[in-house]
Amino acid sequence: MPAPHHPNRSEILAVLGAVHEETLRFLDDLDERPVRNPGADSAARRFDVPFDEQGAGALGALQELIDQGMDATIASAGPRFYHYVIGGQTPASLAADWWASSLDQLSSSWVTSPLAAQLEIVSLAWLRELFGLPAQGSGYITTGAMMANFTGLAAARQWWGHRHGVDVAQEGLHDLPRMPVFSSGYLHAASIKALAMLGLGRDAARKFERDRVGRLDLEALERALAELQGQPAVLIGNAGEVNAGDFDPIAEMADLAERYGAWLHVDGAFGLFAATSPRSAHLVRGVERAHSVTVDGHKWLNVPYDCGYSFVQDADLLAQTFKMSAAYLLDPDDPVPIACNLGPESSRRARSFATWATLRAYGKSGCREMVEGHLDRAQELAALVERSPELELLAPVPLNIVCFRYNPGGIPESELQRLNQELGQAILEDGRVYAGTTVHEGKVALRPAIVNWRTRPEDIELFVRVVLELATNLAAG
Ligand SMILES: Cc1ncc(COP(=O)(O)O)c(C=O)c1O
Repeated sequence: MPAPHHPNRSEILAVLGAVHEETLRFLDDLDERPVRNPGADSAARRFDVPFDEQGAGALGALQELIDQGMDATIASAGPRFYHYVIGGQTPASLAADWWASSLDQLSSSWVTSPLAAQLEIVSLAWLRELFGLPAQGSGYITTGAMMANFTGLAAARQWWGHRHGVDVAQEGLHDLPRMPVFSSGYLHAASIKALAMLGLGRDAARKFERDRVGRLDLEALERALAELQGQPAVLIGNAGEVNAGDFDPIAEMADLAERYGAWLHVDGAFGLFAATSPRSAHLVRGVERAHSVTVDGHKWLNVPYDCGYSFVQDADLLAQTFKMSAAYLLDPDDPVPIACNLGPESSRRARSFATWATLRAYGKSGCREMVEGHLDRAQELAALVERSPELELLAPVPLNIVCFRYNPGGIPESELQRLNQELGQAILEDGRVYAGTTVHEGKVALRPAIVNWRTRPEDIELFVRVVLELATNLAAG
């Protein structure tokens, strides 16, 4: 096959037509298709072939990707995927993301794409309003909450360096003491990874836990801050932990940050969406006082992968941390925000298209209704669990995660642990619905997280039926 030297309209029509047609088929079936096909692993391995001298041509490649690849995909965009915390894609965001790919916009600066730059500025301002964050301040669209935590904590590190008279971005960390980082047992692995990547170390964070669940011991945290005798520290508040959707007391942490002159970073990857509804806004009270805040787009906003947001109140800190300069690049002090000087990436895709489109399409009320629908689904699931004598609810359900296990009674604890572990595996292999296990207060548990706009009450009912069917089979076997 010849290289793609010249625009070939018939080739473009053929490949885009094939993808368009298959996308419609996929979306039509998505509500009913299994999350995972039994042959997914072998279908994926069929792609393990040598690199040919001769290409298959654009349509040949696309057809192979569609025909042979489909069975190896997971319907995580669908209504019955409750593993991890994974949202779907609204129609507006999906189409806008396509459009961003069609236009192949480089979202690094105003020069490379005024539209992508403007949509990023506008989307971040709208999101601040949606979440009740202060209107001033800086922000940056990331690949997800992992990189948003990295971005926010990088700003915190820069602030902390200044407090010691050092510009960390310029001079590095040598000659500085270890940065004190305090959190609860709810600290997410992504924050720990961010600390590792920032040269602060995975062990940097001290967790103050008052029980086996990991709830924050506020008094111990205050004692640790007092012991620092005015030295600056960084607090990480967790707004939405992954086992049961619980929250650190953000307002109390903000009080402590103010009292002891500490930085407050809040990881609200999915939990910040509690702010969109009067039913759940109390859970994130105080987040408006945080110095940096993380939230994901590809989780509860239901925009396609990948997309997250970092909000930092002090805009200068982001610019100091992430600016890059070279004769052929823009002046980092240009008054127009230059995204590549505000976050870790240089070249980046125009994630702002999908975010802007979903916010513009559905507005504040659309976001609120979606969240409230999920709050309802979570309560419906909790009620089904409580009504079932074979299932045991293990934690309150403040948000969108239901933590429970199979426990029909009369089975020794060690056996229950094994059974629930096997149940988690059986659910993934079965594929009709999808949910994984965790360990909550020492107990192996399921923790379905509901964040997909497509999830209906009947999907929740099917989930419980599948869990009970597989668990009963396992217990009998
Ligand atoms: C609380 C929290 N923080 C951070 C992350 C990492 O997010 P991402 O995978 O979008 O980078 C997650 C992912 O589940 C999360 O739940």
